[in-house]
Amino acid sequence: MPAPHPNPPPQAGEGTNDRCANLSFLLADEAATAAFAGRLASTLRAGMVIHLRGDLGAGKTTLVRALLHALGYTGRVKSPTYTLLEQYEAGGLHLCHFDLYRFRSKEEWEAAGFREEFDGRNVCLVEWPEKAHGLVPQADMEILFEILPRGRNITIRANTETGKECLRSLQN
Ligand SMILES: Nc1ncnc2c1ncn2[C@@H]1O[C@H](COP(=O)(O)OP(=O)(O)OP(=O)(O)O)[C@@H](O)[C@H]1O
Ligand SMILES: [Mg+2]
Repeated sequence: MPAPHPNPPPQAGEGTNDRCANLSFLLADEAATAAFAGRLASTLRAGMVIHLRGDLGAGKTTLVRALLHALGYTGRVKSPTYTLLEQYEAGGLHLCHFDLYRFRSKEEWEAAGFREEFDGRNVCLVEWPEKAHGLVPQADMEILFEILPRGRNITIRANTETGKECLRSLQN
């Protein structure tokens, strides 16, 4: 089971000093990521938007794959590196997995119908949201990945009440 460790100080200028707004986990290996994904899966609600931030190879897709498996999805989960979006139905939820690393233009956003996917029903998990700055809706939660010599550290930041509820469940 991944071990929670003390909250980092709230980010300056984020308008929050709520102790519940940040939570970090050390994911020592992929098994720890899978265990954490199981906990995260049980906190998901329809319509949530989750941004996944971190360098290439930081473990974002690995977490989404584990999350889908935790929700009962048994098919292949491939990275949306070239398709930009892969969609799933699992655990009673509709999930949209975006990877916007190769995203180029606002026109592409509209033409692909990405805006319509953020419909308050789909759970949207977005890798590289910064590549479509101003187009991707605000995140309920942001998960920041840091590559360690062994494993990964993740910090989860909640930006909305829904996100904070999620964090509270993860803390318990
Ligand atoms: N908790 C972990 N501990 C150790 N290695 C991990 C962990 N999570 C993922 N990895 C490894 O990191 C590698 C890259 O993972 P992944 O493809 O998920 O990264 P990514 O953040 O989605 O990258 P990209 O930005 O290129 O899409 C994989 O080989 C995976 O096995
Ligand atoms: Mg990825």
